[in-house]
Amino acid sequence: MQDIIRQLQEKRDAAVLGGGQQRIDGQHAKGKLTARERIDVLLDEGSFEEWDMFVEHRCSDFGMADQTVPGDGVVTGYGTINGRVVFVFSQDFTVFGGSLSEAHAEKICKVMDQAIRVGAPVIGLNDSGGARIQEGVASLGGYAEVFQRNVMASGVIPQISVIMGPCAGGAVYSPAMTDFIFMVEDSSYMFVTGPDVVKTVTHEEVTAEGLGGAATHSTISGVCDRAFENDIEALLMVRRFINYLPANNRAKLPFRPTTDRADRLDMSLDTLVPDNTNMPYNIKELIYKVVDDSEFCELQPEHARNIVVGFARMDGHPVGIVANQPLVLAGCLDIKSSIKAARFVRFCDAFNIPLITFVDVPGFMPGTAQEYGGIIKHGAKLLYAYAEATVPKITVITRKAYGGAYDVMSSKHLRGDVNFAWPSAEIAVMGPKGAVEIIFRKDIGDPEKIAERTEEYRVKFANPFIAGHRGYIDDVIAPHATRKRVCRSLAMLRDKKLENPWRKHGNIPL
Ligand code: HXC
Repeated sequence: MQDIIRQLQEKRDAAVLGGGQQRIDGQHAKGKLTARERIDVLLDEGSFEEWDMFVEHRCSDFGMADQTVPGDGVVTGYGTINGRVVFVFSQDFTVFGGSLSEAHAEKICKVMDQAIRVGAPVIGLNDSGGARIQEGVASLGGYAEVFQRNVMASGVIPQISVIMGPCAGGAVYSPAMTDFIFMVEDSSYMFVTGPDVVKTVTHEEVTAEGLGGAATHSTISGVCDRAFENDIEALLMVRRFINYLPANNRAKLPFRPTTDRADRLDMSLDTLVPDNTNMPYNIKELIYKVVDDSEFCELQPEHARNIVVGFARMDGHPVGIVANQPLVLAGCLDIKSSIKAARFVRFCDAFNIPLITFVDVPGFMPGTAQEYGGIIKHGAKLLYAYAEATVPKITVITRKAYGGAYDVMSSKHLRGDVNFAWPSAEIAVMGPKGAVEIIFRKDIGDPEKIAERTEEYRVKFANPFIAGHRGYIDDVIAPHATRKRVCRSLAMLRDKKLENPWRKHGNIPL
């Protein structure tokens, strides 16, 4: 028996060594942790239960029969984060560059299947040279098996991807179908075709980092939800991030008691909105002052900055926050911000996370770039997402809520449960100046008359009371009482039940 136990230990040691010490050193030299070191940082100490440590590939072409490494380039299993079960796969770049073989894919599929069965999140740590070239179509089949599971798991369990090395070609589509993508700066990249192919086809010269690095995807493309300086920072962030999410779409939201009183007032909010309605202000100040302990986990902070999305807690309960940002493009809705917010709203709805929407929106962004780019369809995504959402929806209009954007931003008409306005709110078809220039066009040459008409319009429409008269606004609240009123509303809505009519699935304008 002792011999067998010793042999087992030798096998384990071989698996732990992956592609060997030299390649491990190479990984460290690039500032990267190994697949196992990453799992150690991610999970609670000693909680990792590894599966399939002895799986090997079945390829015999190109001399592969003599080159087997136990585990075949991916470490899989489950463990806990702050005591809650999560499944994990961590690609091992030291073994064939973390490339995905048929067996490697089967290991990933096994943890995904089990995660769906038990209702626990899957976290993928991606560091891979893509399809195992020696295996050809078997590897492509493996990818497709993973993709299929990504789709089956979507909306059932949270799926998080952390890109910690290469992720190229069709391999990008698995992370793309997960709920959140985090990237590590300088050591990770994602692209469908690499710089060499790009140069051949479009004659553009671009580095891998410029084409698909963390900076590119967290600012320009919006593919990445957050970028981090190094592996450890990224993994510790995932540990914090998962605290906002339920284990699955039927599980309770994780509650965290707080000493921050639900009825806390913040008098400074009474002067947040400037007297001049065209002056910007930072909507994040409102968010930080309203949520528990000023803790706000923002997503895509550098992409489509005219809308702010992220998670926070109110009276201990997780909430999703969506807010127009007057500091950027005056808070207008455009293509990128609509897509960013729509996806976030749908995630929250799928996982029963209540939505709080702070509105200060002068309308949709005008221009040929927007129209040619399809703002009609993309703007409709956000409208659709809010309209189909059945989670508790609380809206606070701080200033402008003009035109179609008023409707879109979780208005009463889209089944907003509680819709508040600050006294500074202006809820109208458009701003006073624009309105007067249209309805009193004949007076345009008379500045005095126009000024008079503008003031008349402002007094009549640029306030929350017209909407209030119709019940579109449930109450006009003092800014300093926002936290108290929102917390009360959330408590009232905790057992909300609302179902959409049965259908196979809706047809969101993709
Ligand atoms: C097999 C691979 C591999 C792969 C890397 N390796 N990628 N083995 N299949 N796809 C091996 C290398 O041979 C090397 O082995 C080790 O991993 C490390 O690779 P290096 O090239 O030395 O590392 P580095 O210089 O850091 O470059 C990493 C890399 C490069 C940029 C990822 O290896 C690369 O370009 N690989 C090929 C990428 C690729 O074309 N993949 C297919 C994409 S198409 P040794 O023994 O020397 O350590 C695809 C389709 C998916 O993925 C479709 C899904 C639908």
